[in-house]
Amino acid sequence: MPGPLPDGDPAPDDGSLPAAAVQRARGRGFGVYVHVPFCTVRCGYCDFNTYTAEELRGGVSVSSYPELVLAEIELAAAVLDGAGPVQTVFFGGGTPSLLPAAGVGALLGRLDSAFGLATGAEVTLEANPESVSAGYFAELVAVGVNRVSLGMQSAVPSVLDVLDRPHRPERVAEAVAEARSAGIEQLSVDLIYGTPGETDADWLASLHAALDLDPDHVSAYSLTVEPGTRLAARVARGEVAAVDEDILADRYQLADDVLGADGYRWYEISNWTKAPAARCRHNLGYWTGANWWGFGPGAHSHVGGVRWWNVRHPSAYADRVRAGRSPAAGREQPSPSAAELEQVMLGVRLADGLPLSGLPPRAVAAARAAAADGLAEAGALQAGRVVLTLRGRLLADTVVQALTD
Ligand SMILES: C[S@@+](CC[C@H](N)C(=O)[O-])C[C@H]1O[C@@H](n2cnc3c(N)ncnc32)[C@H](O)[C@@H]1O
Ligand code: SF4
Repeated sequence: MPGPLPDGDPAPDDGSLPAAAVQRARGRGFGVYVHVPFCTVRCGYCDFNTYTAEELRGGVSVSSYPELVLAEIELAAAVLDGAGPVQTVFFGGGTPSLLPAAGVGALLGRLDSAFGLATGAEVTLEANPESVSAGYFAELVAVGVNRVSLGMQSAVPSVLDVLDRPHRPERVAEAVAEARSAGIEQLSVDLIYGTPGETDADWLASLHAALDLDPDHVSAYSLTVEPGTRLAARVARGEVAAVDEDILADRYQLADDVLGADGYRWYEISNWTKAPAARCRHNLGYWTGANWWGFGPGAHSHVGGVRWWNVRHPSAYADRVRAGRSPAAGREQPSPSAAELEQVMLGVRLADGLPLSGLPPRAVAAARAAAADGLAEAGALQAGRVVLTLRGRLLADTVVQALTD
């Protein structure tokens, strides 16, 4: 199960923020994340904050959920005075595609009336291939969803089996065709590499199958064996072998080569697009210190320099929002130096890189050393930015460590 939330300071029951934080957020626009904590089955590798119907035992359900988030939107509307419009909305999970489209529409409608949805707002919904249909995509388009992120993971049945993914590989192409013909404008696929038993040939097959779909955006994640998951227990029992770091690095390189040969360029370590316009604007907001409000159990928020996080369990969340209380479990206001440190950690993972001008002299020296070691682009450094080379991306944690020491 997921680890504990941070402690932080207590958050007030009405969710109110310091006036200075609201003032800082005013007029800048913000992103909205809606966490959808439901899955039909839990994949053995996943420790996200999500629950099956059996685990919820008749408590919060997919059909009652939009009402709860609407209650949190009312609270946000009272707290965020003049912080709109909403620039991006991201329904993430869990499995957001289990949510009826009418519920998605009700949430978008209330976000629009409360804060204004910016013209051309990016509205993403994460979908599992087995839980969508042509009709569902058409309904999503009708309520304003314009981007879908599809959990493809692999094109190889044996790999999907180890991951406990219930869909057939062919279902992904069908779902993509359904989404496109319904009018979804931006399509992204998620892939995972480094599943126990996966071979280089399997990974190549998955990459080529993804490219055959001509997606606007590709995310490729290295499989993390999360403590407490069924996968971790299987690894501990010796039933399956965790993949070692060298093989994971080879797989990353293969992904960058194969995607690159087809015209896809990285813009964040795990994300590639052909056109810069297809970059996920919502996630870029997280990585560049923008403001966002995370709705739902366990969701995190950042507004005007204040961070907070909601209670994790859907029942605890429901109790709070039904009583008109903030679901925040705690909050903190990172010091300017902690905020800068975070910007270095996130900014260095972006292809746009980190401006040298904001860095202290010791970090600038570390950036020069990284360039000398072939971890940062020499040309970009001369132009005043730290941009990782392919080797630097493979050793990003080491570079971050050196820059922040
Ligand atoms: C949490 S899921 C939510 C969307 C959807 N339910 C799905 O599975 O595609 C988002 C992405 O995180 C990935 N993910 C979850 N646990 C992971 C892990 N332990 N290592 C790597 N990726 C993981 C999923 O495979 C998926 O692509
Ligand atoms: S479907 Fe997605 S969110 Fe649900 S358990 Fe699997 S990886 Fe996690």
